[in-house]
Amino acid sequence: MADLEKMLQDASSEIQACNTQNELNEKKAFYLGKKSPLNEIMKQMATLSIEGKKELGQKVNAFKTKIEELVVVRRKELEQIAINEKLMSETIDVTMPGKVLNTGSIHPLNKVIDELNTIFIGMGYNVAEGPEVEIDKYNFEMLNVPVGHPARDMQDSFYITEETLLRTQTSSVQVRTLLEAKGKPIKIVCPGRVYRRDDDDATHSHQFMQIEGLVVDENITLSDLKGTLQKVMEKMFGSDRKIRFRPSFFPFTEPSVEVDVSCFKCGGKGCPICKKSGWIEILGAGMVHPNVLEMAGYDSTKMRGFAFGIGVERVTMLRYGIDDIRNFYIDDVRFLNQFKKGE
Ligand code: PHE
Repeated sequence: MADLEKMLQDASSEIQACNTQNELNEKKAFYLGKKSPLNEIMKQMATLSIEGKKELGQKVNAFKTKIEELVVVRRKELEQIAINEKLMSETIDVTMPGKVLNTGSIHPLNKVIDELNTIFIGMGYNVAEGPEVEIDKYNFEMLNVPVGHPARDMQDSFYITEETLLRTQTSSVQVRTLLEAKGKPIKIVCPGRVYRRDDDDATHSHQFMQIEGLVVDENITLSDLKGTLQKVMEKMFGSDRKIRFRPSFFPFTEPSVEVDVSCFKCGGKGCPICKKSGWIEILGAGMVHPNVLEMAGYDSTKMRGFAFGIGVERVTMLRYGIDDIRNFYIDDVRFLNQFKKGE
């Protein structure tokens, strides 16, 4: 009997020491299975009286029941330990700093276009867009640049067929808008990409952006153009900016002007940005050529207009002190990330 007590003590501590369900199963099988040390004790049965047999039988059964109970208790404990470990490993520490999501930023060219659009919308303009693959007729012919005109050389093009090309200027939207408006007044800006067969260097790119303006109405004069551009340059480059016109040539405007803005860096005294001249060349403009109006069905004796074309890269480079136009198109995040501020 003493053996049984001792065995129960051993079994109890061994079961308690099991650390996995497998160990526990093995231990249970050891004490309750065919090769159990109980068998040795059972051998004593034959030598016992009826009373003795009964007593031993009860003790053995009680032993088995006790083992079953101990196993169940330990099994529950092990399950609980596993759950606790899982919970611990999955705990969310709400005081940990969050993950910083890598967000993109608005491209500097789009920033400047947005800004210019906003200025023009504030002055009553609509924003118009047109296709980048354009027909020769709208890109050149109806802008008073017939086939063979030398001005075509200034805008060497990427032709897709004889009649279609990647537009070389957003002025093609001028033609489209004039045709759509059917003789009515117009006040639009058209931002967008244009293409020319240029060798790429620090100031030239075969792809760049323009924003063109077109105003057509009955009494439009060159001074309307000057007043408009003066206001826009003040808004873009500071309220004490001045502008000046220099005579120039564009086939679709007459007279044509090159517009300079007084240097925003030195205020006109002369510095490296304005190449010591005090002035920065910023855009081309002029009064819409009567031929362009007539070709689009306007009566050029009644309606007149002005147009201007701003190089978006140039304005952006001046605005942010960028010295190489190629930065805009090489998608280097180190360059682009600098424009995140203030978004
Ligand atoms: N389209 C001209 C260019 O690309 C710019 C311009 C637009 C000039 C409108 C005058 C009027 O060079």
